[in-house]
Amino acid sequence: MDRIRIVGGAKLNGTIPISGAKNAALPLMIASLLTPETLVLENVPRLSDVRMLKRILGNHGVDVMVAGKRVGERDDDGETVKLNAGAIVDTTAPYELVSQMRASFWVIAPLLARMGEAKVSLPGGCAIGTRPVDFLLMALEKLGAEIEIDRGYVLAKAKNGLKGGEIDFPKVTVGGTHTALMAAVLAQGTSVIRNAAREPEVGDLARCLVKMGAKISGIDSSTLEVVGVGSLHGAQHRVLPDRIEAGTYAFAAAMAGGDVTLTDVQPILLQSALDRLAESGATVTSDVNSIRIQRNGNGIAPVSLETEAFPGFPTDLQAQFMALMTKANGTARITETIFENRFMHVQELARFGAKIRLDGDTAIVEGTPVLKGAPVMATDLRASVSLVIAALAAEGETMINRVYHLDRGFEQLEAKLQRCGAEVERIRA
Ligand code: EPZ
Repeated sequence: MDRIRIVGGAKLNGTIPISGAKNAALPLMIASLLTPETLVLENVPRLSDVRMLKRILGNHGVDVMVAGKRVGERDDDGETVKLNAGAIVDTTAPYELVSQMRASFWVIAPLLARMGEAKVSLPGGCAIGTRPVDFLLMALEKLGAEIEIDRGYVLAKAKNGLKGGEIDFPKVTVGGTHTALMAAVLAQGTSVIRNAAREPEVGDLARCLVKMGAKISGIDSSTLEVVGVGSLHGAQHRVLPDRIEAGTYAFAAAMAGGDVTLTDVQPILLQSALDRLAESGATVTSDVNSIRIQRNGNGIAPVSLETEAFPGFPTDLQAQFMALMTKANGTARITETIFENRFMHVQELARFGAKIRLDGDTAIVEGTPVLKGAPVMATDLRASVSLVIAALAAEGETMINRVYHLDRGFEQLEAKLQRCGAEVERIRA
């Protein structure tokens, strides 16, 4: 297994281009199942989760083609992926595939909407919590699906097609909203989705569905109204920038110190994170599509926060912010409200000498002036990158094991950091 070696202490100075968002690309690729025509997605990040989903969609009969490089395209530009689900040959998503990537469960919605049936393995829990799918199944039932659970599989049927209905989510759920949207666009009649997730990736999916001929109003709000249509057509759509990748490098720059500009980004999508970063003492200036982070000389002030659904502080940046707080000159309280077990990074950050105590859903981080490099191991994507952030500011060498977690969500991580002067290298197994 590959490892990443980091020698801490170098300041970061330079420019980092931000890739397309993993969490937007995945549902957009799944939406290709809704139409027999071609969906062209631009700015798709080169990540192992994307590769995995290409395989999963291929299993259902989707032809996936990656367009060659075009004149004027930069190495940093994502892929242009053409997906054609002209004929869906299999409506089953097997355990072997779904268990490797939770988001692949969402194929249940377009398969059901277009084919009237789907058999999809239950995804099971993961390192950050139990993560059930009860809200997703409730949403499909409200649209007239018959749902049965049999030997680890969800069997969903809608013999005469889905019907418009009212869905009221008891808790904000990104996957639930993606699922409800993809099912409702082909249902007969009108659907209303209340307490819908307002995460930008949901808006990106909705906008792409509209380009495909769907009728959706209330995009970016917590109430979505969908008037079902008989069929959808092909479209071309650019995946929005990855706000979590951007936030991660912003925190890394503040942690290591220096002057870093993030490009190809939409600052508005991570305002809450940038506000917390500014409170911590970094100078943050943004333009329409770039963010500059500077921290030279001054220390890191402690900032307490709670994770929240969008537009609040994202759970997907909680581990990274905690890494930054380990060097604050004071104590910060970080409360996780979205997932019940998203503190697996705490014990690994302790290896650097970080002082963190857990009290239920809150981590109490007592900043320490010196972190020391150590061998560490990651348990999930965002936890692993929090270790990278700590390592950049730690004395001496850190060896990060289980790098495959990072490869799921961070495109060219080492190259992007190297360009800014960090001492980072991948050691291939
Ligand atoms: C998406 O997961 C993201 N994944 C996650 O990013 C992200 O952390 C999460 O949204 C919250 O923003 C992708 O987009 C691929 P949820 P999702 O449904 O949709 C509970 C990363 O690192 N819940 O919004 O699975 C659930 O347990 C990943 O990139 C139910 O109880 O999350 C959680 O507590 C990790 N029943 C809360 O709701 C359900 O049926 C929010 O989960 C569904 C969810």
